[in-house]
Amino acid sequence: MKYAIVYSSKTGNTAALADRLHDILPHEHCVYFGDTSHYSPDLGADLIFAGFWTDKGSCDDRTRVFLKNLQNTKIALFGTAGYAAPDYIHSILKQAEANIPVNNTVLTGFVCQGKMQPAVADKFAAMLEKDPEDAKGKLLRDTYQEGLSHPNEEDFANFKKWAEGFIH
Ligand SMILES: Cc1cc2nc3c(=O)[nH]c(=O)nc-3n(C[C@H](O)[C@H](O)[C@H](O)COP(=O)(O)O)c2cc1C
Repeated sequence: MKYAIVYSSKTGNTAALADRLHDILPHEHCVYFGDTSHYSPDLGADLIFAGFWTDKGSCDDRTRVFLKNLQNTKIALFGTAGYAAPDYIHSILKQAEANIPVNNTVLTGFVCQGKMQPAVADKFAAMLEKDPEDAKGKLLRDTYQEGLSHPNEEDFANFKKWAEGFIH
């Protein structure tokens, strides 16, 4: 089975997952490892691992365009999100999968938390300065702080387990 790892990552969280995946899977079957811009269907991948970062509750735009163009392939999505409650992760994957044409086969995906950019800290600081009890501001603060250590070793261990499910 030939596979490709194609990913989009703005600040490195999803790139870190992609690197791990590349380390875990057997290299002799890998036909592509890199960003969306240089991938070609002519490489003949039977399985595409498509990595994304979460934007507006779905995959980022580059991944969205990439997914829309895939045909007759098996696809396993993986990614990171600033907020990673299980229901939300489920919803992110559903939103991302909705971009994939129906002649493809979508396999079980994986999403874990990733650190958010420092600008987010300014945002919740301003919200809490205005109202220290602002529930949204508090959630954003807690999520941001929790995210600073992610993806962490537990995320990578879960990701490895997920990835190893594809090795036969
Ligand atoms: C413009 C922008 C929009 C984002 N939207 C969301 C979102 O809707 N939900 C979420 O959980 N995280 C969101 N995030 C956080 C990123 O998805 C998260 O930090 C991710 O790990 C970034 O991955 P990367 O380091 O591979 O770029 C957003 C980040 C940016 C910069």
